[in-house]
Amino acid sequence: MHKVLVLNGPNLNLLGTRQPEVYGSTTLHMIEEHCVQHGVSVGLEVTHLQSNHEGVLLDAIHAARGVQSGLVLNAGAFTHTSIALMDAIASVELPVVEVHLSNIHAREAFRHKSYIAPVALGQICGFGAQGYILALDALAVHLRAGGAA
Ligand code: DQA
Repeated sequence: MHKVLVLNGPNLNLLGTRQPEVYGSTTLHMIEEHCVQHGVSVGLEVTHLQSNHEGVLLDAIHAARGVQSGLVLNAGAFTHTSIALMDAIASVELPVVEVHLSNIHAREAFRHKSYIAPVALGQICGFGAQGYILALDALAVHLRAGGAA
């Protein structure tokens, strides 16, 4: 069974109460539980981690090398600022699906830039909590195809 880490960055621990008109009312705990359950149905062993600290996210990406088969990453606001996260993803050579609950391209201009996108397998945004499930499906297909698709 392929292992996948669902990694969430700053402020995503507040999901459910944080700007529900933008991010919905689903809590991060509900999203993580759903990811674990859905993972089983598509042959992925899903674990999860959230941190508000860039260094913790970097350490988690480094530690994923050789352990995880892929990552689902919502880096929150670090998406738009962190060359360090981009470099970490490029370094560990794992397939990463970038997720955002909101459609970052339909929001403020500063959210249009993603440092994650150039090193990601792909980006899913605008589908709320369902985006994590779509990301797991995309990773499952990718990994089943031997990592080439
Ligand atoms: C977000 C979008 C980011 O711009 C924002 O800073 C977040 C959440 C999203 O999931 O839509 O924290 O990543």
